[in-house]
Amino acid sequence: MNVEMIGNYMAPFAFDVDVATGIIKDYKNHVVRKASSMRGYYADAGALEALIAEGDPIHYEVFERTVPEVYGNLMVGISKLYPGVVGQECFMTKGHYHQVIQTGEVYLCLGGSGYLLMKTKEGDFSALPMERGKVVYVPPSWAHRSVNCGDDPLVSFFVYNAESGHNYGDIETEGFIKRVYKRAGAVVIE
Ligand code: F6R
Ligand code: ZN
Repeated sequence: MNVEMIGNYMAPFAFDVDVATGIIKDYKNHVVRKASSMRGYYADAGALEALIAEGDPIHYEVFERTVPEVYGNLMVGISKLYPGVVGQECFMTKGHYHQVIQTGEVYLCLGGSGYLLMKTKEGDFSALPMERGKVVYVPPSWAHRSVNCGDDPLVSFFVYNAESGHNYGDIETEGFIKRVYKRAGAVVIE
């Protein structure tokens, strides 16, 4: 990829985030995952198919300022997860381990409310609340998934090692131990 250089080094850069909408101006990479990208992830497959048939709404978007994916660089961006339910299960991201499993990540929630679910290969589980101003530190070895339990988009700024890579396959087969539902207006993790 082309990066701006000053002498022998990558040039420092700055960018703007529209905190209200969660959109990075001048993003370099944009990932859009619709309901149809989420087949196999929710407990109620029929409810997901109904949602897809009704218009296949966007589940989440990721905006990144990409940098070369090598040791030392940090990847930064915004994750914007829309509100909604599949059956009674709250909208969520696919979730992943990092391919380079000894790399962590930091999330700063800018708006909305929900959880960051985390799990390890050994079956350990953690669910930490996400709300505006909350920083969640994801240590190495923990898979992570965002869940939106509110009525507004759950917007988070994230930073991770640029060489981390993403391992989605293991979550597709393992699942995430617990799911988050809205039952009669109450959020339950079960
Ligand atoms: C990057 C990271 C986030 C997620 C984003 C979408 O390592 O954890 O940027 O990529 O929240 O979730 P996934 O990648 O699980 O679809
Ligand atoms: Zn990650």
